Amino acid sequence: MLASGTGTILQSLITAGLDIAIVVADRQCPATVVAASAGLPSATVTRSSFGADFDRVAYSKLVLKALAHHGVDLVAIAGFGTVLDASFFDSFPGAVLNTHPSLLPSFKGWHAVEDALAAGVKVTGCTVHVATAEVDAGPILAQEAVPVLPGDVVETLHERIKNVERRLYPETIARFARGELP
Ligand code: GRF
Repeated sequence: MLASGTGTILQSLITAGLDIAIVVADRQCPATVVAASAGLPSATVTRSSFGADFDRVAYSKLVLKALAHHGVDLVAIAGFGTVLDASFFDSFPGAVLNTHPSLLPSFKGWHAVEDALAAGVKVTGCTVHVATAEVDAGPILAQEAVPVLPGDVVETLHERIKNVERRLYPETIARFARGELP
């Protein structure tokens, strides 16, 4: 599992009883604390830079190295703040999943919830998909709609979406692992 955030999606995977081999974060974040509390191994692969000189290829190799020897056969991403190089996806062909807080292909990117609010949509949602080198693209496995309510701000809307992700993501990962999804 790759995460950079508060780790509530990670917690939902743990609660669902999924067999998590290792949690990798790209920064100090609550997700690693969630991993430790569950007794899961974790690694923080810190970025050398957030600037134009960031070496994405070298960084992606370090993430692969962190996963090595943990028996990983499926990678689940939830809010990992670093875009990985194509070589990473080549190492796990068709076996990297991601959850995204919008109904893809609408509102790709890191500010999906903010962008949905700014667009004034009345319905948004979440998407679980096979992740590819192209960000927030790749075959869609599951989607669920979530209403935007009057007075919503990013935090309230994102929390409503995450409530669905915490059910849909573990459920979809389990179905995918059982070969029930394409
Ligand atoms: C989720 O909404 C996920 O879709 C997004 O980042 C969020 C992670 O939530 N990309 P948390 O940090 O696990 O609470």
